[in-house]
Amino acid sequence: MIIIIDFGSQYNQLIARRVRESRVYCQITAPTLTLDEIEALRPEGIILSGGPSSIYAENSPRTDPGIFELGIPVLGICYGMQFMIDVLGGKVRGAGKREYGFAEFTAGQSEGLFKGISERTMPCWMSHGDAAETLPPGFEIIGSTRNTKIAAVAHPGKRLFGLQFHPEVEHTPKGKRILENFLFDICGCKPEWTMTSFAEEAVAAIREQVGDKKVILGLSGGVDSSVTGLLIHRAIGSNLTCIFVDNGLLRKNEMEKLKISLRQHLKMNIRFVEASDLFLDALSGVADPERKRKIIGRIFMDVFEAEARKITDVEFLAQGTLYPDIIESVSPFGGPTAVIKSHHNVGGLPEKMQLKLVEPLKFLFKDEVRQLGEALGLDEELVWRQPFPGPGLAIRVLGEITRERLDVLREADAVLLEEIRKSGYYRKLWQSFAVLLPIKSVGVMGDQRTYENILAVRAVTSRDAMTADWARLPHDLLGTISNRIINEVKGVNRVVYDISSKPPATIEWE
Ligand code: XMP
Repeated sequence: MIIIIDFGSQYNQLIARRVRESRVYCQITAPTLTLDEIEALRPEGIILSGGPSSIYAENSPRTDPGIFELGIPVLGICYGMQFMIDVLGGKVRGAGKREYGFAEFTAGQSEGLFKGISERTMPCWMSHGDAAETLPPGFEIIGSTRNTKIAAVAHPGKRLFGLQFHPEVEHTPKGKRILENFLFDICGCKPEWTMTSFAEEAVAAIREQVGDKKVILGLSGGVDSSVTGLLIHRAIGSNLTCIFVDNGLLRKNEMEKLKISLRQHLKMNIRFVEASDLFLDALSGVADPERKRKIIGRIFMDVFEAEARKITDVEFLAQGTLYPDIIESVSPFGGPTAVIKSHHNVGGLPEKMQLKLVEPLKFLFKDEVRQLGEALGLDEELVWRQPFPGPGLAIRVLGEITRERLDVLREADAVLLEEIRKSGYYRKLWQSFAVLLPIKSVGVMGDQRTYENILAVRAVTSRDAMTADWARLPHDLLGTISNRIINEVKGVNRVVYDISSKPPATIEWE
């Protein structure tokens, strides 16, 4: 494995992504990790990340300089290189002018980090204020740009390397090769990390953690909790009980599909708890979105806990926590990062029931979870499911919720999804769904005047839901969706398309 020491760069997760895309396992760690802790991880190499600080700023992040004496290859990127140069006896200076954006980098050699790259001169992405001025003993310059003479350095004997530019970003086209030269040639890693190997290791780790004790898991039908369940099921079989709560706010046939794919095909032990009346009665007359969320959260907790208490000897609660949930790349002024956020979806339950957590996906990114799901034999439909909010359709029937209005939305949403799937857009969209508006409009059907509901269609593209853009769906597709919904779903006489981006709008309407 490779460890990435996090000096706070916005690109840290990207470094991890690139390393893993090259099929080498890596973890992002805080600079406070001790040398003993580093050695215990037995990394083949260390990458020092960039960071927003100046090396001479007060509280600039530092890690134990002893890492350069461990005999493990080190690659310092941007701030990481400046840190290395500084602690080993070179000099870093305020560069006078900031260098930001594309630069022409010329490599001084065609081996080592630059092996296999035919052109000596290549575009690279710079983002720095300070720059190295003199080198520590034993180091040599292995590449420059016009503005930055010391843009790449090496101490071949100690296998220490530094790059002033960012090889991990797309704007450095040869960056992947440079990183792979570090991983494979310099560190001697092998591209052997696959989801199948991850699954084997994860299963062994779960067995070791859990032993013969029992585990519960709240299943939502989403890819994260499904894959968590599958993995733990593979490790401990029927000692895992999954709990799926039907809150009456699910999409059409959602629970039936889940029953088939997880229970029948994969033989998982799942309790389906029918609690829709509890939820819908409590939501009656409630129009405020935040109150809806609170009510749903509270009832979910009660129902989940009551069901969990029926299972004897439970010692663990499993959760589908992902890597971005536990890594918080922090404030530009905060220094060392990699803060572990302790967050659970069933807030408070572990403490209340004295449960320990099992989080087998906590080192994976979302697309790795999908690959893992595929490797474990999860249905294609579940693997590629778009995110769906916990409060479900409650926040898509705007205003007061009734069973009838939920049914109207459910039918319309099913038509919409069918057409989106048919068109091949489903996987390209972050989310696509229907929203039932709390106003009516006039229409005409046959000879009859109608006065019915308006339905909004929302389809967005996004990387992480923090920002999103409305999807440029083809007009013909929108036309088909509108036609089918108005003709087939009783209670809707008008369909509109939401063309708002986030920000300033949000993805959901409530
Ligand atoms: P917004 O609407 O804030 O949504 O742009 C961002 C992402 O979060 C989902 N979402 C929720 N998920 N509980 C959830 O589990 C919620 O209360 C909730 N509200 C929004 C939303 O679907 C989108 O993916």
